[in-house]
Amino acid sequence: MWFVKVFKYIIGLFRSRSKSSSSPVYADVPQAIDEQLRSQMWAVGGGKGGVGKSITTLMIGASLTRWGKKVVIVDADLGGSNLNMLTGINHPPVTLADFMQGKIDDIEKVALQTPVKDLKVICGADDILGMANPGTAQKARLFNHLKKLKADVILLDLGAGTSYTTLDFFLFAPNRIIVMSPETTSLQNAYGFAKTCLLRKLTRDFSGDNGSLELINRFNTANEDRIDTIAKLIEAFSRLGEEKKNKLSSSIKEFNTGLVINMVKENKDTKLGRSLIAVANEYLSINPEYLGFIEYDKRLDRSINKMAEFLKDSTTVMTDMGFYDLASKLVRKIYKESKKLQSGETGKQKSVEVKEKDETNQALG
Ligand SMILES: Nc1ncnc2c1ncn2[C@@H]1O[C@H](COP(=O)(O)OP(=O)(O)OP(=O)(O)O)[C@@H](O)[C@H]1O
Ligand SMILES: [Mg+2]
Repeated sequence: MWFVKVFKYIIGLFRSRSKSSSSPVYADVPQAIDEQLRSQMWAVGGGKGGVGKSITTLMIGASLTRWGKKVVIVDADLGGSNLNMLTGINHPPVTLADFMQGKIDDIEKVALQTPVKDLKVICGADDILGMANPGTAQKARLFNHLKKLKADVILLDLGAGTSYTTLDFFLFAPNRIIVMSPETTSLQNAYGFAKTCLLRKLTRDFSGDNGSLELINRFNTANEDRIDTIAKLIEAFSRLGEEKKNKLSSSIKEFNTGLVINMVKENKDTKLGRSLIAVANEYLSINPEYLGFIEYDKRLDRSINKMAEFLKDSTTVMTDMGFYDLASKLVRKIYKESKKLQSGETGKQKSVEVKEKDETNQALG
């Protein structure tokens, strides 16, 4: 009935206003954040297809531009790119393929303006045979140029699965987000993705060191002599000497990732995030950081073919679903990191971190 619609509309307006006004936006530390956001790179991955990696990349990007940030989103899904369609660029005049094949030298020229002000997109390259598995030299060239993009934030949208290219993109970015949906298969995939990434990292960090690699490979086998947790792997490294053991511990510590749960329909959906963190803790000795959740919203599902228009007029949806809050969390994280770097870890800062962790645990239910 018409009055129900009007009522919902008014409630919608109220929600969007109250959410955005309560968001910890830039007001308190605008300049410092401006500095620290420059060229920050985040990779968005997660193993399973269809969990919303591309949507999350796009919507976080759009949310950040509403705060005056210049953002480039990169379609790093070399096997099934779709960011161009999502941003309304049906026939991109240039793509990542042109850069990777050396037809265009300047990566800035491959970054296309989207209909959203300050949001550019580098479209994917799946139309080129063999591009889904670029060689090491091609990847290295791409990584080096991506770092130099003139943007405040660069977001890499990764493909599904655990191809070497996807893993390398994920490991290359200094900041990472795993996206999962509230299903058991997604949890398994997200865990498998984190495990495979960690193994790839360890294999690279110990490349050429056969004694260490032999032990690392035992973590990745179904044989009888398998080592089933990273904690036991560290223990097993004792026999190779203190130095190697410490190197292994540092290598594991460097592998950090954030976690986002997408398409949440009810409160208990976020609990799967807690399960992933617990399993990753126990088996991989890593501690993924829960960054937040995104609500399932029919309006987004329906608008998938006209995202470009949708993005321009969708402040309400972005705040309602949680993308603004998520983007603000990234900003605060970057700011916090920079503070740590500037002043070293003080006792006071540590207590703030513990408090935030408690809040995260509460949010996970
Ligand atoms: N929060 C949400 N609410 C409603 N629909 C959503 C939400 N997030 C994603 N979707 C829908 O889910 C589908 C898959 O999203 P998306 O393409 O972002 O997934 P993906 O993880 O990038 O998939 P792939 O691995 O194939 O690249 C889309 O149709 C999208 O509209
Ligand atoms: Mg995608």
